[in-house]
Amino acid sequence: MSNKHVLVVDDETNMRRVLEIMLQRMGYCTDSVENGVAALEFLDTRDTDLVISDLKMPVLGGLGLLEKLRAGGNDVPVIVITAHGTVESAVEAMKLGAFDYLLRPFDVDALNLAIRRVFAAGEVLRQNQFLREELDRGWGGLIGSSEPMRQVYEQIKQVAPTRTGVMILGETGTGKELVARAIHRESERSDRLFVPINCAAIPADMMEAELFGFDKGAFTGAVRDRVGKFELANGGTIFLDEITEMPIALQSKLLRVLQEQTVERLGSNRTLELDLRVIAATNRRPQDAVRDQRLREDLYYRLNVFAIELPPLREHPHDISLLVEHFVAEHGGRRARLTPRALDHLQRYAWPGNIRELSNMIERALVLTRGDTLDVEHFPLAASTAAHPVTGASSTSTPPPDLSLGLEHAVEALESRMIRSALEQTEGNKTKASALLGISERSMWYKLKKYGLN
Ligand SMILES: Nc1ncnc2c1ncn2[C@@H]1O[C@H](COP(=O)(O)OP(=O)(O)OP(=O)(O)O)[C@@H](O)[C@H]1O
Ligand SMILES: [Mg+2]
Repeated sequence: MSNKHVLVVDDETNMRRVLEIMLQRMGYCTDSVENGVAALEFLDTRDTDLVISDLKMPVLGGLGLLEKLRAGGNDVPVIVITAHGTVESAVEAMKLGAFDYLLRPFDVDALNLAIRRVFAAGEVLRQNQFLREELDRGWGGLIGSSEPMRQVYEQIKQVAPTRTGVMILGETGTGKELVARAIHRESERSDRLFVPINCAAIPADMMEAELFGFDKGAFTGAVRDRVGKFELANGGTIFLDEITEMPIALQSKLLRVLQEQTVERLGSNRTLELDLRVIAATNRRPQDAVRDQRLREDLYYRLNVFAIELPPLREHPHDISLLVEHFVAEHGGRRARLTPRALDHLQRYAWPGNIRELSNMIERALVLTRGDTLDVEHFPLAASTAAHPVTGASSTSTPPPDLSLGLEHAVEALESRMIRSALEQTEGNKTKASALLGISERSMWYKLKKYGLN
């Protein structure tokens, strides 16, 4: 199944033997050595995909091994094994860059899962290397090579050459504006203007004048003629962002403009022929907006002829490493690499702010890192809320659980969420919080460390 090489480092002969047998049954090639110094010598000359190391060993223990490896620029993933009484050193190991730790006694399943996580993260980074070479990082200014993003590209290509109205749906920060621009760029109108209007940003009583324009004297304050956005976008594309924030009365006028493809400035009786394409976007569910009378039903049907729904980032976590690379280049221009462990963390986070949040987080991480690697500690938010639930905070319905997360991660996600909310309710009193959750203080303490909540 695999020709991956795993090195076992443990001073106890029996432990080494047991681990090697477990690993070989899982299909890995194994070697073992009895302490950190021997491991360093081994790793110097032999290609190794993963190190599983005990922490306490004479000569050079697991922490020392990690330190020396990282200092020497070797970033082979390391899983450390520790006994129950020594969780502190496991946490220490994570800080030094261990990928994960296992508490003794552990069973085959726990070992298997930990290893699979290591290799899954590594696999994605390697695939990226390949994709980069293929120049297949995305399309039309959009980054992402996952299936959901490919579907978006297909839809853009389908609709761009037509004059059809388009409705772009998706949570905040999923790239709706970017998609609108891509549609315009790929259309025959690309040499004309793309005129974006954020309906949430313009005061309701100024929006009509903004869209329709006015002739001098149309109302007090109209001291000169003014071209409206419809006119401005003539021949091109008008992008009505956050369409549900447009006053409902104005929505009827918009509908008329779209149907008749004509416009009159306020205070003028000259009718102008339009050739306008409309793209609208909202981060609400349009059916809900119609129900709540924020969106006229007839306008909705007119716009919704072609709908593109952007996936929340947590539904295409495999694009995260490409996106990170993109934002690193965009924000810093430096070469900073993401460690597999950090990627794993980012992939388990729920990203309520989606790609915008990722972009902001990279910007912050680049400030925090002094070297050229981005590791877990450079993503404080992602680290402390890693294993967030897959059901996103901002989505209005509960999507089916993301099975790719695996049961264990999903359970961890729920666990850390419950602990956080227990702590909130008890104002940080750990004794009360553990009573509330029906667990011992000791196990509370352990879990706080595990989820970085202490
Ligand atoms: N697929 C992507 N590839 C690269 N950058 C992206 C992608 N999607 C979004 N971004 C970036 O994320 C940020 C947010 O994107 P955008 O403004 O298009 O989101 P939005 O869906 O319109 O959000 P909102 O609903 O909050 O207005 C922008 O900086 C954009 O460049
Ligand atoms: Mg937007």
